[in-house]
Amino acid sequence: MGVSFSHLVSASDITRQDADFLVEFATEMDQDLAKRRVDGEVRKYKHALEDEIMGLLFYQPSTRTSVSFEAASKRLGGSAIVREGVAFSSISKGETLQDTIRVVGGMVDGLIMRHPDAGGAKIAADRLEKYRTERKGKYVPFINAGDGNNEHPTQALLDLYTIKSETGTLDNLNVALAGDLLNGRTVHSLVQLLSQRDGTRFTFAAPDQLRMPEKFTTMLRERGVPYEEVSSLTPALKGDILYMTRVQGEHFKDKEEYERLKHYFELSYEMVEDEDAVIMHPLPRVGEIHETVDPLWNAAYFRQADNGLPMRMALIHAMIEKARIINR
Ligand code: NCD
Repeated sequence: MGVSFSHLVSASDITRQDADFLVEFATEMDQDLAKRRVDGEVRKYKHALEDEIMGLLFYQPSTRTSVSFEAASKRLGGSAIVREGVAFSSISKGETLQDTIRVVGGMVDGLIMRHPDAGGAKIAADRLEKYRTERKGKYVPFINAGDGNNEHPTQALLDLYTIKSETGTLDNLNVALAGDLLNGRTVHSLVQLLSQRDGTRFTFAAPDQLRMPEKFTTMLRERGVPYEEVSSLTPALKGDILYMTRVQGEHFKDKEEYERLKHYFELSYEMVEDEDAVIMHPLPRVGEIHETVDPLWNAAYFRQADNGLPMRMALIHAMIEKARIINR
């Protein structure tokens, strides 16, 4: 088994079978990591990617995503070259991004990129795909670590893994996504992965200006997945999963509108003390979830962040294994 995709640009690249495989593989990675704490136990994956170098290009700020990708590469015995805040390169200067990707691609075995523009990831993956067929070319797998307000597929994978480990299942779940559903790239990817599971029902809670883009509601209608759109948090508290998100200030042209909307939803202890929905958030939070919520058993957002490590280990391992075979 492995993954069906060569590059991970969008959650739409991930089949249901891929997701099942990766959730299971991440569980194995978690168990492998746990062996570090047991005397004398040998980790199976400690040297798995020896001599493999991951290139991490972060054209946009990131803490948890870049740290977890770097840690994942190193926990597999590989190494990582991280470049953050690389001179800003917009899609209008697409040529520059393409050249950077080709040059870095020639020096590493896998490339992970975060980019401020929606569509940046596709440009990079296309350039690496072209490199594969060029004279003396090779296959360098690409992973999108977030592109503008478009997608964040690896976050969706670790979210899926979190849902599985918190609830024990991925089927028949009532999932509420709340906050900035217009600009939040994590929910754009997650809605696609969850719509592949049996019996998912969505509640989208957002102010009118920040509703889930039509592209995704159309997809849900085509797939026959039920959803309702609400503008208050109350109906969202009753499901199995409550996934909160931050209002994405960086995507607002009108800063006053951002000021008006940034505290539209705030989850307080009183609102959830008697609820048992698993509370998730991709983090960083900027007031959407009060710190008084943190001690609740169902406040899962820090465990969710922790899950980034085993899931990214599973993903990197699967893609590098594939490259080893193809480039042989
Ligand atoms: C998210 C992102 O960058 O899209 N953060 C993350 O990767 N965990 C969410 C956000 O910035 O709001």
